[in-house]
Amino acid sequence: MSPEPGILERVAGQDLLDEIEEGLRVHLARFGMIPCLHEVAEYALLGGGKRIRPILVLRCCEAVGGQRPDAVPAAVAFECVHAFSLVHDDLPAMDDDDLRRGRPTVHRAFSEPMAILAGDLLSVVAAEIAARSPRARAEVMMEVLAATRKMIEGQVLDTVGGFDSDDDPEANLRTVHRLKTGALIEGSCRAGALVGDADAAGLEAIDAYASSIGLLFQVVDDILDETQTTEHLGKTAGKDADSGKLTFPRVLGLDRSRQEVETLSASAIDALEPLGESADPLRELARYLATRTR
Ligand code: IPE
Ligand code: IPE
Ligand code: MG
Ligand code: MG
Ligand code: MG
Repeated sequence: MSPEPGILERVAGQDLLDEIEEGLRVHLARFGMIPCLHEVAEYALLGGGKRIRPILVLRCCEAVGGQRPDAVPAAVAFECVHAFSLVHDDLPAMDDDDLRRGRPTVHRAFSEPMAILAGDLLSVVAAEIAARSPRARAEVMMEVLAATRKMIEGQVLDTVGGFDSDDDPEANLRTVHRLKTGALIEGSCRAGALVGDADAAGLEAIDAYASSIGLLFQVVDDILDETQTTEHLGKTAGKDADSGKLTFPRVLGLDRSRQEVETLSASAIDALEPLGESADPLRELARYLATRTR
């Protein structure tokens, strides 16, 4: 399924999207795993998806003057962690979803034990693939692992709770979103910049950009859950309200949530100023992320 037919191909470039799909397939195949596990991992990893995190790795590498092929292992590693997070997010004990990317979720298509194990697997192969990075290997591994840890912290707060206090729901919401979703996006951007051997000013610009689009991404996800249909999203709409989740539309309302997206997208684009024209694809991505409908 192509989530936003045409638009992402234009924004990211078909060549880049093809390089990502090929990278995902080839890096996974290199493990030569038992077929029944490989099949589930492929279902989770290769069955569609916008590929935002790998696109960010590759584009951030190029924006600081690096070579795109050098960043492919880091890009694949981040998409593996993302796929792991989705497989576990959909489990009955978590969000209990039956539909993902327009198809049955992994535990529906295979089994719950297989979904748990395939998620575990993807989290570990992410680190192994990061270790194949031809440049900044240790830094890339640290980014992948630290972002994974933060994503899990965010999922705990989102699913189980554990805030210090409930006095400030908006502050708690920002914390959850920055952890469960922002961290992987920030890590993707940083890893790309580190592979590209960014200088201090370049890394600072990428960090500021990533921090804005990381939060923006989950605010938009919350808005779409309320405003789009299941058919359009390829995942169950209206789920957050039904399960009483702390979301941006619930805490701020839809209008203020949309304003927040505008503000974050503008600050993301501002942050790229020091990088000049080489960051144009990142600017266009920020605009796309603010206006995407699935
Ligand atoms: C969905 O992520 C989960 C969130 C972190 C909001 P994406 O919207 O990137 O999902 P795919 O990969 O395109 O399916
Ligand atoms: C998911 O947040 C964040 C992850 C770490 C997977 P959601 O639970 O809102 O993601 P969707 O809406 O199921 O894709
Ligand atoms: Mg969730
Ligand atoms: Mg979910
Ligand atoms: Mg959601």
